Amino acid sequence: MEKQRFYITTPIYYPSANAHIGHGLTTVLADAMTRYKKMQGFETRFLTGMDEHGQKIAKAAAAGGKSPQRHVDDMAVIWQNLWQKLMIDNDDFIRTTEERHIKGVEKLFQTIYEKGDIYLSHYQGWYCVSCETYFTERQVGEEHICPDCGKAVDIIEEESYFFRMSKYQDRLLNYIEENPDFIQPASRRNEMINFVKGGLEDLCISRTSFDWGIPVPINEKHVIYVWFDALSNYITALGYGSDDTSLYDAFWPADVHLMAKDIIRFHTVIWPIILMAADLPLPKKVFGHGWVLLDSGKMSKSKGNVVDPQLLIEKYGVAAVRYFLLREIPSGQDGYYSEGALVQRINIDLANDYGNLVSRSVAMIEKYFEGTVPAAGSPEPIDQELAALAAAVVPEAASYMDKLDFAGALAAVFKLISRANKYIDETAPWTLAKDPADWQRLATVMVHLLESVRIATMLLAPAMPNIPPLVWAQTGHDPQACRDWQQLAWGGTKAGQQVKKGEGLFPRIEWKDEEPKEAAKAEAKPATVEPVTTETAKAETALIDYETFAQVDLRVAEVLACQPVPKADKLLKLEIAIGEERRTLVAGVAQHYKPEEMVGRKIIVVANLKPAKLRGVESQGMLLAAADGDRLEVITLPADVASGSKVR
Ligand code: ME8
Repeated sequence: MEKQRFYITTPIYYPSANAHIGHGLTTVLADAMTRYKKMQGFETRFLTGMDEHGQKIAKAAAAGGKSPQRHVDDMAVIWQNLWQKLMIDNDDFIRTTEERHIKGVEKLFQTIYEKGDIYLSHYQGWYCVSCETYFTERQVGEEHICPDCGKAVDIIEEESYFFRMSKYQDRLLNYIEENPDFIQPASRRNEMINFVKGGLEDLCISRTSFDWGIPVPINEKHVIYVWFDALSNYITALGYGSDDTSLYDAFWPADVHLMAKDIIRFHTVIWPIILMAADLPLPKKVFGHGWVLLDSGKMSKSKGNVVDPQLLIEKYGVAAVRYFLLREIPSGQDGYYSEGALVQRINIDLANDYGNLVSRSVAMIEKYFEGTVPAAGSPEPIDQELAALAAAVVPEAASYMDKLDFAGALAAVFKLISRANKYIDETAPWTLAKDPADWQRLATVMVHLLESVRIATMLLAPAMPNIPPLVWAQTGHDPQACRDWQQLAWGGTKAGQQVKKGEGLFPRIEWKDEEPKEAAKAEAKPATVEPVTTETAKAETALIDYETFAQVDLRVAEVLACQPVPKADKLLKLEIAIGEERRTLVAGVAQHYKPEEMVGRKIIVVANLKPAKLRGVESQGMLLAAADGDRLEVITLPADVASGSKVR
């Protein structure tokens, strides 16, 4: 049977030296989507590229003392390198200065001209070079400012070819209304419906005042408007206008044009009308994701407030950067980037939750079964529950990915990861290991764990494609058996498989700038919850935002042992377990609790506090307690709350 096909595109980017993680988001999202579709058995095609013509590029080249062609050639190398570092596996990289593209654009222009939808006239009006967009008097206002980027616009007056967009207004509106999937998410769709209802004017599609563009085939004095040129890339890259249209025949119409919301208008008004005028099918979906914002606003080249993905990759690794972009920016909405938030995602999601799950599972099989995966016995309800969750998470993740919602998909995968970590605490393999009578049970637990690791890792593969090979090298799974979507069915972990502990997948990051400096000096005071008085209410001036709060990794810990610290009458030394991890913690609670009163408690600790030495003992964290006058109550949870659980 012929495979189903899937064609996805990103915008073609302007060749500037400031590629940033906003561009990274679009391209990583398209890449992850393609990898997911491949797992599902689709024949995929993923296109990205460069938008190399127009007045803006000509100006930038001149400012750098280069010819435009030299400028774009240099930039194309930089961008392609970036995509390689981000593990972008595109099938094609179109550049609008390539002959194959130029031929296709000429054919498209000629076709529409011959149909009578392009006519020669005169343009007088406003133009924003930065956005390469025409604006009306009303849009630029009295100040003559671009409504999109806020820069000053130019007045231009020249002979121009016009495209009869107005003629297609009703047809486009009907199309958008009859095809609810065409513009996504729905908020963008409603905006565009209102925009089109507001009336469409004919569009000026040629310029004569500069020559860095594709000449109009019927009049060499003119170059084709850069957006007409750029939008055509989605079909010229498939061979439209060439002798070989096999790719076009196989992959057009595109399944998804992906971009941020700022250029949705070009893709849902100008592009479909170009296609209608040329009698070509329209793309199935145009998806506008949100912006990556910084505290200083939208990250953008023109503002100069950009975060370079290459630096982040060098510092934190490609998997973490890709994961952050996909997980942190909610689907279709704006999201914030900060380095602290990235470190948080690495330390909590990737190191503590996922990385630990992999290393604990492998370490236990090494320890208890000499590295050979045992045969499972009959499952108990707790095992069946874990397997059932895995089985439910697979279609849940798929349904999110189908909607291009990787934040939702990854959240679903982490439900399984958290459950598997909790399963370790609940089944307590270290206790089972003590009694040979429990070894069959221990084997069953180990197999369930390793199978959960396998399924979670496969589901994370589209987001972090370099991680599965590292995991399979440790878990001993056959990579060929962990590749396709059908292989996500429970039961891929085999008895006899050899595990081998390797390096930690995601080492925890020390995050210097965010350290609570006073706490690090640590007088060994427990963190306290003060009663709310008018005094403390006044301290509301120091309100923090959620992001700051979320940087504190609060965890449930079990106190395993406790003893006084010699020559320190206020301090107790606690041995605690946070999940599988053992730590020592020093707390200033000795005047309120005897050591034996602490043992066995489930307490809350700040797990990501920089270690501090107190009376020669290193304290790796801090416990939470409420201070009510002289009274101090260590916050204690019911015994059945699993150690290692997050406190939110
Ligand atoms: O517009 N957050 O190119 P461009 C999220 N050449 N995404 C962002 C972003 C941010 N802060 N900033 C940029 C062009 N992007 C035209 C496109 S297509 C026929 C021609 C991403 O280099 C997002 O995908 O300005 C946005 O649509 C694209 O970069 C704009 O890139």
